[in-house]
Amino acid sequence: MTDGFGRNVNYLRMSVTELCNLRCRYCMPAEGVCKKEHAEMLTEEEMITAVEAAASLGITKLRITGGEPLVKKNILSICRRAAQVAGIRELALTTNGVLLPQFARPLREAGVERVNISLDTLNPEKYSYITRIGTLSDALAGIQAALDAGFQKVKINAVLIGGFNDDEILPLALLTKQYPVDVRFIELMPMYDSGDFDQSAYIPGSVVLERLPEAVPVSGDGGVAKRYRLPDAMGCIGLINPVSAQFCGTCSRIRLTADGKLKPCLHSPEEYPIKGLSFPEMRAQMERAILWKPKWHGNLNAAHRSRAGRDMNRIGG
Ligand code: GTP
Ligand code: 5AD
Ligand code: SF4
Repeated sequence: MTDGFGRNVNYLRMSVTELCNLRCRYCMPAEGVCKKEHAEMLTEEEMITAVEAAASLGITKLRITGGEPLVKKNILSICRRAAQVAGIRELALTTNGVLLPQFARPLREAGVERVNISLDTLNPEKYSYITRIGTLSDALAGIQAALDAGFQKVKINAVLIGGFNDDEILPLALLTKQYPVDVRFIELMPMYDSGDFDQSAYIPGSVVLERLPEAVPVSGDGGVAKRYRLPDAMGCIGLINPVSAQFCGTCSRIRLTADGKLKPCLHSPEEYPIKGLSFPEMRAQMERAILWKPKWHGNLNAAHRSRAGRDMNRIGG
């Protein structure tokens, strides 16, 4: 469906839980999230109805997110049913990878075609620092499991953080030579409550290209990422620059939170509730959310934090 500014909205990011088995410092508070009443969260039936409503409005691409989607106990059933909704041509999932050794194959069998895996560092101490409670070897085992399970594409997401991993741009980029993966560097977005970072943490994606002089541009559609390739690499390097080069003008996305709020824009406070609605009501609400999708989310930098009103784990990235 076309929004009020002529953009074709064909991509739904659906978060299935706010909970996570990690606590990344840029994403959520150390204490995790207050567990909510089940009654406040979307049921599996409501999620599938929402996907059907979205598909009836021209959504063709669905990404399952969280929190961490693999901690949701009915995740395989949600994926299996979502994959079968008529009109959904692409089903992908974003994960921290820790549970992929157990879930990669069943997810593939359930119809998930692609996975994006978060990995900000290759150093075990730094990984435990940034995730607060994670173990690097678990995430690496997850990436290997994804490669073994035969997904059409595996992408690695590294959030760029000055003074933390800007010294690892080359080693992370070299993963594209060792494995058939894309590695995408994401500019740190100043979320609602991400108080752990000072100004020096916000470095522009252009730093990546300075550190990778051999990278050459790749044409074609990389979604929100501008793509490059190192000589002889199997995968691409992607730059996702939501701060220095906002992509609102070509935004094709709408989001659904685990508590049933449609968010037409990641960084705007507007939310359209769909919990408890029937298919026609949900469809109408979704139509409204797409039609009134904001033109852009305003400046985003350390001085102008996200107006989303939620931490990233409660939106879905
Ligand atoms: P592909 O389908 O593989 O292109 O995935 P994706 O980049 O759409 O999804 P992923 O979950 O891997 O997100 C990567 C990063 O891009 C996350 O940090 C997202 O928050 C960010 N991102 C995705 N869409 C948007 C958007 O519309 N606006 C902003 N500012 N950031 C976005
Ligand atoms: N800025 C940039 N990226 C973020 N992510 C989570 N929080 C932020 C943030 N504040 C990323 C995760 C994951 C993706 C869905 O969003 O690392 O890869
Ligand atoms: Fe969990 Fe992903 Fe947020 Fe890290 S970025 S705390 S893995 S939801």
